[in-house]
Amino acid sequence: MSVAEVFSAHSHIYATAENERFYTRIAAALAEKVSPRLDPGKILEVGAGTGAATIILKRYFPKAEILATDPSAEMLAHNRRKKLAHVRYACLRAEEAACLEDKFDLVFGNICYHWFEKGTAKGLAGLLTPSGVLAFSTPTSGQEKGDGNLILFRICRELGVKGRHGRHLSSLSRLRKEFAHLRNVATETMTLRETCPPALLGTLLRARGSWTFVFGPEADAAENLWRKYTTGRPLTTLSWHITLVVAG
Ligand SMILES: C[S@@+](CC[C@H](N)C(=O)[O-])C[C@H]1O[C@@H](n2cnc3c(N)ncnc32)[C@H](O)[C@@H]1O
Repeated sequence: MSVAEVFSAHSHIYATAENERFYTRIAAALAEKVSPRLDPGKILEVGAGTGAATIILKRYFPKAEILATDPSAEMLAHNRRKKLAHVRYACLRAEEAACLEDKFDLVFGNICYHWFEKGTAKGLAGLLTPSGVLAFSTPTSGQEKGDGNLILFRICRELGVKGRHGRHLSSLSRLRKEFAHLRNVATETMTLRETCPPALLGTLLRARGSWTFVFGPEADAAENLWRKYTTGRPLTTLSWHITLVVAG
């Protein structure tokens, strides 16, 4: 299954309020970092998905024209249903978006950079107007761990995936290297705690592509182990470390 197929298959779960709330919060933190620096007229959103962050872009930059892109047509269909004014759509991977002929004041991606091929920031930077900026939020590794994180580590050990699908352990220094060619790179890491019934969290992680991202072909096996190890727990907590990068 391609990444787009993984997201398409579960887009109806991704588009639920309890899932989108999590992404909206992060997108708002990122937009908050951009807004003092820039009042963009044209925005390219990459990995726009079902529109949790597109809504935030509209709120912070109401006059901007937005081109919202994502490789999953089904994710974008949910985004379209939000009927946001001055938003156009294109089914594209971020790596392909780098070939667009337009220029943008802001290229924005909420919790999607970790899916892109290495070096994508360089291609996207070529789309910026002279005062334009790139803004991304992406998960990085961090110290704080909830009981859910410990269960995930146990599953990694049991399936022996560390190293094979270890991209999720992306460090801040590795992320900074991606943007090193740009002047003015600001990063900030925020920690979010997500506490909910483990069955719901397991389903949300499926819709977010997390099982696939971390465990690759062992995604289903990992989700089954999650069910096994969380049986009887009313609630589970995951600690997320999200790095915001604004560069340009
Ligand atoms: C976790 S979702 C985030 C969606 C949205 N930004 C939000 O805040 O809700 C990750 C998104 O990245 C998209 N994606 C995966 N690989 C991509 C790529 N190579 N280029 C662009 N988007 C990609 C997926 O289709 C999915 O919609």
